[in-house]
Amino acid sequence: MMEAFAARYCQCNPGVFQSTDACYVLSFAIIMLNTSLHNPNVRDKLTVERFVIMNRGINDGGDLPEELLRNLYESIKNEPFKIPEDDGNDLTHTFFNPDREGWLLKLGGRVKTWKRRWFILTDNCLYYFEYTTDKEPRGIIPLENLSIREVDDPKKPNCFELYNDGGGLVKACKTEADGRVVEGNHVVYRISAPTPEERDEWIKSIKASISKDPFYEMLAARKKRVASKKSS
Ligand SMILES: *[C@@H]1O[C@H](CO)[C@@H](O)[C@H](O)[C@H]1NC(C)=O
Ligand SMILES: *[C@@H]1O[C@H](CO)[C@@H](O)[C@H](O)[C@H]1NC(C)=O
Repeated sequence: MMEAFAARYCQCNPGVFQSTDACYVLSFAIIMLNTSLHNPNVRDKLTVERFVIMNRGINDGGDLPEELLRNLYESIKNEPFKIPEDDGNDLTHTFFNPDREGWLLKLGGRVKTWKRRWFILTDNCLYYFEYTTDKEPRGIIPLENLSIREVDDPKKPNCFELYNDGGGLVKACKTEADGRVVEGNHVVYRISAPTPEERDEWIKSIKASISKDPFYEMLAARKKRVASKKSS
């Protein structure tokens, strides 16, 4: 499987590796890195320096760019490498072709800590996940009746906020660590984007998503009326 993967990867990404062997060896190094960093039984965690040294000379005798190795290390450190399994029962369909997706920081509702979450905007809802490969979201924020505004935060850059137009708690839900689904307790959802451009893009997409709904409902109502006229 790994050999087939390496061959296909090199076919689709010519120029990254000198040979498919280099890709094959690096793929194994990544799986070992993943185990080292995320398996609690491994005490002696690989450092980025050791990861770079480990991969010396694998590119047909030459070295791969150190930046590539450091990026891979950071990426695996931030998110364990999981191969999504297809149990025919996941939400892949729901999240297929979303309006927008990306990493954002979210400020907690009760405990005011910033958490890095993978956000997906689709179907007039904002979903957030712990990891990109998670099948179940940690939380769902339906955008109906919400408004969005840019805000300044003393701690984080590029912030925006979702809040209830009529005041009060935002109707949303989230999963607790033990798997229970509970109602959210946010009066506002404060979110920080990595760059000003991304903040603007998110605000634009969310606004579009919020305002698209009344049209939908209007059209649905109209269609129903037409249908009922035809049948009577
Ligand atoms: C990466 O590590 C996690 C945690 O130990 C594990 O669940 C996952 O299966 C590993 N991925 C691979 C491809 O081995
Ligand atoms: C949104 O507002 C409308 C009108 O006030 C209300 O009927 C509806 O229940 C609200 N939806 C949510 C999810 O709060």
